[in-house]
Amino acid sequence: MVWASGWRLASAVSNAGALGLIGSGSMYPNVLREHIRKCKAASAKPFGVNIPLLYPNIEKHIGVIIEEEVKIVFTSAGNPKKYTSLLKEQGITVVHVVSSSLFAKKAEDAGCDAIVAEGFEAGGHNGREETTTLVLIPAVADAVSIPVIAAGGIATGKQMLAAMVLGAEAVQVGSRFVCSDEASAHIAFKQAVLQAAEGDTLLSMKKTVPVRLLKNPFFEAVKSAELHGAPAEELNALLGKGRAKKGMFEGDLEQGELEIGQVSALIKEIKPAADIVQEIWEGFLNTRRKINLH
Ligand SMILES: Cc1cc2nc3c(=O)[nH]c(=O)nc-3n(C[C@H](O)[C@H](O)[C@H](O)COP(=O)(O)O)c2cc1C
Repeated sequence: MVWASGWRLASAVSNAGALGLIGSGSMYPNVLREHIRKCKAASAKPFGVNIPLLYPNIEKHIGVIIEEEVKIVFTSAGNPKKYTSLLKEQGITVVHVVSSSLFAKKAEDAGCDAIVAEGFEAGGHNGREETTTLVLIPAVADAVSIPVIAAGGIATGKQMLAAMVLGAEAVQVGSRFVCSDEASAHIAFKQAVLQAAEGDTLLSMKKTVPVRLLKNPFFEAVKSAELHGAPAEELNALLGKGRAKKGMFEGDLEQGELEIGQVSALIKEIKPAADIVQEIWEGFLNTRRKINLH
């Protein structure tokens, strides 16, 4: 996650037994290299790097990933065709994030090892189709034969179990980890997430790059421009540069872009990432036991 998952969060999650990911979308290549090295120093467990394909520096990031011998890459927000074979030639496991069965199929055809199927509820960039996790997971699980990892609206063990009943083999959790001690997000943003209620996030900027945001004055400015039929150029100008950093990393709750999922309504506490992993895992096992699923 941009501005939230650096080496501290990724290594804490990996050390707790899940797979931590470094979010390279907010990093220059030299910063990414530093995070990879620090993550390796902090954890001997597997970890991965996420590359949103819509950001600049992709080729340099891939160069760093290969040089630093990262074994797992999650790509998102773009076409997996271009880079999957390059990464796979280096022996890297490639997982691509999609929001529809059509794109899941394309990712499978491009040679990806697994798919993250991310529903409408999710924080961050999202598809225009508005397909919810409940509908997307069974559809994608039917469409492809590679493993499906469910994302969007999952912050508890019960939700994880539900996703697996729908056909997922694993889950990707984002928003919940924003409210971890180790996330690099600004404390003001983390606290705003704790305050969020149902309906406080909406998918914004569907004309340009759709992203689920916590409502704030910046969100309202975008909404009003959209209501007035602002063309893409005007929306891009309104977004400007550095909005996400301003909101999520610097804690400007008024003018910053605050990416978070619907599940923020269920997040009540900032805690260590290891506790979050354990809570989700135990919740998953307990619920499975309770309803007698094996
Ligand atoms: C603050 C934030 C930043 C994110 N940044 C990225 C990113 O850089 N790349 C990416 O593939 N997904 C990104 N996501 C999406 C997450 O990886 C994950 O798929 C999503 O949060 C899952 O849904 P959830 O928020 O309901 O847990 C981001 C999500 C959040 C909340």
